[in-house]
Amino acid sequence: MKRFLMISIILMMLLAGVTLVFGGGAKEAEKEAKEFIIFHYWTAGGEKEAIDELFKIFKANHPDVEILENPVAGGGGALMLAVLMGNLESGNPPDTFQDHQGNQQKAFIDAGYLESVNDLWEKTNFEARINPVWVKTLKFDGKVYSVPINAHRTNWLWHNIEILKDAGVRPPESYDELLAACKKIKAAKPDIWPLALGTREKVWSTYLYDMCLLTTGGADFYEKANTGRINFKTDPTFRKAMDRYAALIPYIYPFHATKSWDEAGALIKTGEAAMYWMGDWILGYYLAIGMEPEKDFSVSAMPKDIWMGHADTFPLAKGAPHPQLAKDWLEICTTTEGAKNFNLKKGSVTIINDVPPSVYPDPYRQRSAKDLASLRAVIDGYHGGMMTPAFGDDLMDILTQFLTDSDVDSAIKEIAASAERNKLKEACSWFWK
Ligand code: GAL
Repeated sequence: MKRFLMISIILMMLLAGVTLVFGGGAKEAEKEAKEFIIFHYWTAGGEKEAIDELFKIFKANHPDVEILENPVAGGGGALMLAVLMGNLESGNPPDTFQDHQGNQQKAFIDAGYLESVNDLWEKTNFEARINPVWVKTLKFDGKVYSVPINAHRTNWLWHNIEILKDAGVRPPESYDELLAACKKIKAAKPDIWPLALGTREKVWSTYLYDMCLLTTGGADFYEKANTGRINFKTDPTFRKAMDRYAALIPYIYPFHATKSWDEAGALIKTGEAAMYWMGDWILGYYLAIGMEPEKDFSVSAMPKDIWMGHADTFPLAKGAPHPQLAKDWLEICTTTEGAKNFNLKKGSVTIINDVPPSVYPDPYRQRSAKDLASLRAVIDGYHGGMMTPAFGDDLMDILTQFLTDSDVDSAIKEIAASAERNKLKEACSWFWK
């Protein structure tokens, strides 16, 4: 009897243990399935509202899932990347994260951090719904790893309508017109800085570089230079582009190191600066802070016969803790509803061509959508992933120094050395295949 009692007690304890282990495990699994982990850096005006639109749709589809956002403020994403890389390297990936394309994405693929999503592209007929220029920088060896949500135009020069009118300046559409406008504004209004800039995120120094390459050498030269297919030290067009960058420096807001991209953009609102070379996330910001298109600000494209820009993408992380939720998120990005709601707030246009330009309330995005469909399109050097992140990181350091000393010789020497050190030409050979 005593023995029977002992066995019963042991059995009961075992059962309790099993329930505890499996019950606990089930609870853990249940808890896990209720989380969706994403990394992003859309915290500024316009950007935050845009990603919130996607969260809204995701929440409606998954009311019981908690979204772990991990927002890391800092335009351009350098700060988010520093955090994210640590997670990826230590085998603790999120489900998805904010990324770009080209070399920016290839770096993650080569490191083995991403999973292919060819099935999702096939299911949603995605490739047929986007401009081929995107496929070239999103498909590697026949595989795609992400879904792009937008097309940000970056060859936009924003301006304060009143200042330009008062100074008798037409919105510039070429480099020469831009330089002439800077001179005229400075002469007419010595207290106003002709060009706004913020380099607290150093990457914005490379946007002016892209502009100088593009307006000096044209689209083919631009693509060659950004993928290391020119001799930086001896190429006369490259030197001319750098000379033209240097010529703009005296007209740039001098305290740029203290400003982020949105704070620099606000100089157009306050009237401290007249013009701003920036991608159309600044349009999302202007709309979010209540500025009125064609009243408070307007924009011109430079050069007007080219569409330059990049896409924001969401890849599927390898080892994503909640792969199904990650795929559901990516699928939302392929839908007309998701893309439209997001882009209306973001300042960009949808990358899928099944949303007509007429959905945008301002003339700028209507034009961007039409231009993207009809003009030669080129991808941004840094965020578009034309250049490698390693070269781009050097470039932004070199250019922020250049913004201080205007030393063309030294900048050219350092850019050439970095291209060589980072084997830029070889690393970008995929672009030319
Ligand atoms: C870019 C990104 C844009 C915008 C901008 C400022 O890298 O592609 O969507 O957010 O940074 O944060």
